[in-house]
Amino acid sequence: MAPSSAATAAYELPWVEKYRPTLLDDVVGNVETIERLKVIAKDGNCPHIIISGLPGIGKTTSIHCLAHQLLGDAYKEGVLELNASDERGIDVVRNKIKSFAQKKVTLPPGRHKIVILDEADSMTGGAQQALRRTMEIYSNTTRFCLACNMSNKIIEPIQSRCAILRYAKLRDTEVLARLLEICKEENVQYNDDGLTALIFTCEGDMRQAINNLQSTHSGFGFVSGENVFKVCDQPHPVIVQAIIRACHKCEVDSALEKLHELWDQGYSAVDIVVTLFRVAKTFDELPEYTKLEYIKEIGFTHMRVLEGVGTLMQLAGLVARLCKLHMKPELFKL
Ligand SMILES: Nc1ncnc2c1ncn2[C@@H]1O[C@H](COP(=O)(O)OP(=O)(O)O)[C@@H](O)[C@H]1O
Ligand SMILES: [Mg+2]
Repeated sequence: MAPSSAATAAYELPWVEKYRPTLLDDVVGNVETIERLKVIAKDGNCPHIIISGLPGIGKTTSIHCLAHQLLGDAYKEGVLELNASDERGIDVVRNKIKSFAQKKVTLPPGRHKIVILDEADSMTGGAQQALRRTMEIYSNTTRFCLACNMSNKIIEPIQSRCAILRYAKLRDTEVLARLLEICKEENVQYNDDGLTALIFTCEGDMRQAINNLQSTHSGFGFVSGENVFKVCDQPHPVIVQAIIRACHKCEVDSALEKLHELWDQGYSAVDIVVTLFRVAKTFDELPEYTKLEYIKEIGFTHMRVLEGVGTLMQLAGLVARLCKLHMKPELFKL
């Protein structure tokens, strides 16, 4: 094999890009919101749009899909994309967007040029102010699509000019379905435990789920729970479950033993507290009331850890308090 072709064969596109949907139909989750986008893509009268939501749930993707479906072959000419890595100060907004908005482009009938401002919440207030007038002046030829993590970081006047679409976190089943498709396409060897682990660690972030899938696959060749947690470098929830179970049974010693085990593996207090929280939140063996009490205690500890006291003692204290919740108060009377 010639060296150049060997290099091409070894080169593998990140799966997040390889499996980036190109049609709105392929974007999973947020069904109702995406239905609305599909209607816009079909009818063509695109309002200014803000899509907000957590990272990795398809905001950028759906804006690009929308632009593709609206403009077809004219996409190259008719779209200006500025994302957080581009210079987006006041001058750029004034000049670049203005000259784009004034440019003559042949578009399908009834369509508008589109300016995509990805990660718009990282634009300065001044730049956003410069944008609001521009949006208005050119709105007969140009429409704006903004994506951001938090829509409240966008100034009010822009919000009121836009249709705001909020994307929710993706459901586990939605992430799972996508992962299964990719596994099939890429011939990934996996077991159920591995997929559960991927879904547990990604917390509804599809980008992370796909990245972890690829890392586990290329690192270990097999997607098992064990391997996924090695890749993601998070405490194994099975051990964390054991801690909580022990607390629930008031077995302080065995809970502490498990805690030490995690600590000796090198996990930081934050890693452990965060996993404790997530496990407790979804742990079916706990009655609802206990769950809430546990979450409260874990939350307080999380706060202390973030304030800088991330010691083993801090975590041991948490474990002891969790145990105490079910012990008879008389036992603590002197
Ligand atoms: N809803 C989704 N449906 C299918 N793939 C998705 C979805 N959300 C994210 N992805 C995957 O994650 C990658 C990143 O998505 P992106 O739209 O850039 O996320 P963000 O919401 O942070 O802008 C995409 O390339 C795609 O592979
Ligand atoms: Mg994005």
